[in-house]
Amino acid sequence: MAKQAVEKTEYARGLEGVVTNETAVGYVDGVKGQLVYRGYSIEDLAEHSSYEETAYLLLFGKLPTQQELDGFKAKLVSYRSIPGQVIDVLKALPRSAHPMAMLRTGISALGCFNPKADQATVENDTEIGFKLIAQMATVTAAVARIRKGVDPVDPDPSLDHTANFLYMAGGEKADPFITRVMDVALILHADHGNNASTFSCMAVNSSLSDLYSAIVAGIGSLKGPLHGGANEQALKELLSIGSQDRVDDYVKKRLEEKKKFIGFGHRVYKTYDPRAKILGRYSKEVTERKGMDHLHETARRLEEQVVAEFGERGIFTNVDFYSGTIYHSLGFEAPMFTTLFAVSRIAGWVARILEYLPENRLFRPRALYVGELEAHYIPIDQR
Ligand code: SDX
Repeated sequence: MAKQAVEKTEYARGLEGVVTNETAVGYVDGVKGQLVYRGYSIEDLAEHSSYEETAYLLLFGKLPTQQELDGFKAKLVSYRSIPGQVIDVLKALPRSAHPMAMLRTGISALGCFNPKADQATVENDTEIGFKLIAQMATVTAAVARIRKGVDPVDPDPSLDHTANFLYMAGGEKADPFITRVMDVALILHADHGNNASTFSCMAVNSSLSDLYSAIVAGIGSLKGPLHGGANEQALKELLSIGSQDRVDDYVKKRLEEKKKFIGFGHRVYKTYDPRAKILGRYSKEVTERKGMDHLHETARRLEEQVVAEFGERGIFTNVDFYSGTIYHSLGFEAPMFTTLFAVSRIAGWVARILEYLPENRLFRPRALYVGELEAHYIPIDQR
């Protein structure tokens, strides 16, 4: 095979370790196991903040004053409702469709009902970004209801973002503790550097395509089991194990099969994911309150075994491990888990798209060609 004249180039499969842009939105320290949003640690934000305040921080780069936060919350409230035709589109989908596929379709349909969708300017995309932060929750709640064969619930303007989401998804107001747990989970999932789905959003938006197309790309990437889809798979594995006394056999079998353990390992973290530490504490408390402590005990035992086996290689628990036990305890079905990830990550996706847009540069990496260069065409009757 003729060798191509290969210019000297950086070749990193899957862009591993490649820096594509500067950002001030958030930083992941994979060695120390630290995550900050605009300089604030997720530990502080999980303890003191709300998802609305954290979304404001990611978008605008500073913590809001009370007046600024009230104005932002009012704007999100004003954008919660979605066109009835989008509900009709969701209802037309087979109930067997994956919730992430339904969410992807719903967000795509929303773009068709926004006459200003294609105006790719920072100002217009900022307004659409607000709408999508509000409506990702509305569409996800509608998907949850339609999957169960019941009608979606209209948003309640008197409720904060997370309380309203739980109300629309469950059809009744959630208790304050459950609402707080969900709000913390949304804070923790809001942003995480140039992960696969964020990169997908930015790459699509860099062609100056519309924001809806960019976010649909992010949903598509997040759906994958190597990324956001891991929370669904991790919970399914825990339920299949059934109890902590069956963990050791499960681990032994999975090692023999050379299968990966879902909810563990990370491209950047080579130590314990700081989000998993916080979620692990909430998982223990929520499962105990819901009489599901056996599920958390099974998870803990599995975590002990996997980290004992792989910790030396930098493979530890990641965000998708305990999010599943929490969401399961809150009553969500496993296939809905990744949509909850999207309800949160929409803030990080929008923040990073808006940050990159003013000095936009089309994402266009290269491939190292290793094929033929001088093939001769042979007529079909001579092949
Ligand atoms: C998220 O990027 C982000 O920031 C993502 C995220 C975010 O907030 O956006 O943090 C959210 O996606 C978390 C990750 C969720 N995915 C999973 O839990 C799926 C299971 N994890 C793996 O598939 C894996 O760890 C990845 C995909 C997460 C990262 O994999 P890499 O960096 O591509 O590493 P790799 O697959 O090349 O693995 C390197 C080695 C391999 O062994 P060898 O072939 O070298 O012998 O580590 C092993 C892998 O087999 N390995 C694992 C493992 N993860 C890696 N072995 C067992 N179990 C695992 N979970």
